[in-house]
This record gives sequence, structure tokens and C-alpha cells, in this order.
Amino acid sequence: MSELVSKKIAADPRLVEAKSLILQVVQEHASSIVDVRPPAAERVVDYQRLLNDYAAFRGGALYFPYLSSGAGNGPFVELADGSVKLDMITGIGVHGFGHCHPDLVAAGIDSAISDTVMQGNLQTNTESVDLSQLLLELLNEGSDEYAHCFLSTSGAMANENALKIAFQKNHPANRILAFKHCFAGRTLALAQVTDKAAYRDGLPETIQVDYLPFYDQTRHEQSIQSAVSHLESHLSRHPGKHAAFWMELVQGEGGYYPGHREFFMALIEALKGQNCAIIADEVQTFGRTTSPYATQHFELQSEIDIITIGKISQVCATLFKSDYNPRPGLISQTFTGSTWAINAARAIIRGLMERGNFGAEGLNVNLHRHFENHLKRIGESYPNTISGPYGIGGMVAFTPFGGNAEKAKAMCHALFDAGLMSFIAGGKISRIRFLLPLGVVTTQHIDRAAEIIEEVVQAMSS
Ligand SMILES: Cc1ncc(COP(=O)(O)O)c(C=O)c1O
Repeated sequence: MSELVSKKIAADPRLVEAKSLILQVVQEHASSIVDVRPPAAERVVDYQRLLNDYAAFRGGALYFPYLSSGAGNGPFVELADGSVKLDMITGIGVHGFGHCHPDLVAAGIDSAISDTVMQGNLQTNTESVDLSQLLLELLNEGSDEYAHCFLSTSGAMANENALKIAFQKNHPANRILAFKHCFAGRTLALAQVTDKAAYRDGLPETIQVDYLPFYDQTRHEQSIQSAVSHLESHLSRHPGKHAAFWMELVQGEGGYYPGHREFFMALIEALKGQNCAIIADEVQTFGRTTSPYATQHFELQSEIDIITIGKISQVCATLFKSDYNPRPGLISQTFTGSTWAINAARAIIRGLMERGNFGAEGLNVNLHRHFENHLKRIGESYPNTISGPYGIGGMVAFTPFGGNAEKAKAMCHALFDAGLMSFIAGGKISRIRFLLPLGVVTTQHIDRAAEIIEEVVQAMSS
């Protein structure tokens, strides 16, 4: 068999050497970034001008004055004003391997020589096949329960596809069930699912959504009973009308509250015989619990019909069982993801497996525990400042100052100014959260984050 030209390019010794040189150069310079630092005075004016210009272009200021210089090292990122931040929010879960990671730079070089910038419907390279297979194999663990994996460019698009698949399969049912305080994305349809009035302000009502309360770990039995009773009342008010139950297994934007297997099972049991698809929105949870999928963490693979993933995986995807395979024409896109995103996804997922992030005593659990211990200690040292619950795995959160929204926002900005990147969360803003760069973060980085949190707590409580 004659060798493919693409293989000849990749194996050319000049390219192999150039790649190794590029990696060397990036690492050599990036490795000088080792701790947070304030902006360089001489860059402040130009940086502010860039921020102002960008605010004008996009019609509103960025949440943080964050414009990356394009360099970083592990969880540290250099901004264009010369400052360095300890990035523990990672673009809301995207930089799972931190900044300038050699495996991702290598994936970028491989992608740059792969001809196709954006892969999609009529422009698929072989990497898309490998990624789809990897995502399905990880989920199925030897079974063949989930048959399909459809790639897309955003969490919202993966979720739109999930909704369309569920509605088509369960036609003419035209309503969906969802948890209060859920966040599903920002399309016209998903803005209806998302339980936040401001995010659908002025939009027409596209989908009828019936909400139930999410799991409350402080009231295990009562919270199960309450959710089931809400569910039964929705089912009896709109018999046969629910095409899907939209589930976040850990509420993300809602404040990092994990659910519980018994809670989900009670609801799923109550839905048996209803022709209602169970959809797990794992756009935020993917890669962050004891298993690659939170569906596996809660042992719900047999129950859940459609799963969506995104963020840390760079490429987003909708995975579904064979009886949900839609008729031709329903889902298709020009773009499924950039070649770099697809190659980065493969490197990130394989990297997390190799690094030992998963398992009951895997890194995700241990890093969480380490962070949680710091937060508990700070909360005890400074009463009425910060409190739990603290989330799960790579999703860490706390409630500042009893859940006061203004103080939570002020603290988030004070942390940023002090060098630590976090973000707010909560149905009603009341929490501060972190999405750890799970592929690179160490306990020393978490110790540094805790030092900054303690400084800020001290300053805000004095
Ligand atoms: C649970 C969940 N679903 C969907 C989305 C939307 O993803 P995207 O912003 O990539 O469209 C998000 C984003 O924060 C999310 O957290």
C-alpha cells in the first residue's frame, strides 16, 4: 500500500525537528511563569484601551478585565497587561489542561499540518472518527448501550441536538421537564429550558417547561418525596405531553449542588412507561467526577437515553442510544469542531485517564478534598465569611457571607485583583465557584489559591 501524503508530511524529519523546537521554545519561555503578579504599570493604559475597544465592539464590558497575552504555564495565565493570574475557573471549565500545555501545543502543530481548519458535515478527517469512538468506549465500558456520538461546536448546539432528537422520537409530546435553577444554554429553545428569567427577557416562548426542585442533601428523603410529588402533578396535569426530562446531575450554574442516585432513580421510576427521554446535560460535569461521565458516577447508564458533553472536551457531543437515532435531516452542521479542538479533545481525555483523575480515590476526588479542607479551615478561622457545601470533584464552590449576592460579586472581583480567577454561581447569585484545571493542578497550586482566598476574606471581613 502506498503511503499517504499526510503521513509523509507528519513523518518528515524536518517537521519532526521543527515540532520539537517549537515545543522547546514554548516551554522554555512559559516556564518562567510560576506565580501570580500584578500588571506592569507601563502596560496599564494600553490594556485599558483594548478593553474599552472590545467592550464597544461587543456592546458591553467583559465580566473580568481579562485579555490573555497568549501564554501561560500550568494553571497560571499571563494577561496582556503583564499580570499573571492563577486560573481556577479555566474559561468556565475549558482550560482543563491549563495554559500552554505541551500536549495541546503538539496537538495544535499536528492540526496545523492537517489541511482542514474546521471539520464538519462534508469535511471530516479521520480524527473525528477516533474521537467519537473514544467517547463511546469510555461511556460504554465494554457494553454497547450507547450507539451514537454526534460532534458539535458548542454545548448549546449539543443540547439543541439532544432536544430535537427527543422531540422527534416522542412526537407529538411537546413539553419538557427540568429542574429549577438549571442552565442549558443560550439558544432560543434552551433559554426556555434555563430557569433564569433574565436570560429569556424579551424572547418568545418556544417550549413549555415544567420545573421540579433539585436534590437537597440536607433533606435527603423529603427532597426525593417533594420532587416526585411535583413530577406526578406535572404528569397528571399534562398526560402524555412530556418528550424529555432535562437533567443536570450536578447543578452547574445553579451553584455546584450534586444530585444523588436515589433521587434520580425515584424520578426515573415515576416516569417509566411515559415515553419520556431522560437527557443528562453533562456539558459542565464531563471529566470532573469519579468517572469521565457523571452518568457513570451516579450509575445511571441504563436509565439515561441521551448525554451531552462540552467545555473540557473542547469539542461538544450528543451521545445517544440506538432507539433515539433521528431520521435523516434532523441534525447536521457545517462545523463539528476545529481540527485542533478535535486533536486537543483526544489528548485531554486520554491525558485525564493516564494521570489517574478518575476512580473513588482518583485525583479529582483528592484535589477536591484538599481544596475543601482549606475552605473549611478558612471558614472556621473567619466566622460568617465562607461556608459549604463545597461541590464535587473538579467543581468546587463555597457560599460567601451567607449568600449575599453583592458581596459574592465583590469577592469574585477582589479575588481576581488579588490574582485568583473564580466565578459566581447560583440560581440567585450566592456562590463562588472554581473549575479546576484537572490535567495540571497540584495540591501546591490549591495551597496558593487558598492563601489568596484567605487574604481576601481577611480584607473583606475587617
Ligand atoms: C450545564 C450546561 N449546559 C449547557 C451549557 C452551554 O454550553 P455553551 O456555552 O458551550 O453553549 C453550559 C455552559 O455553561 C452548561 O454549564
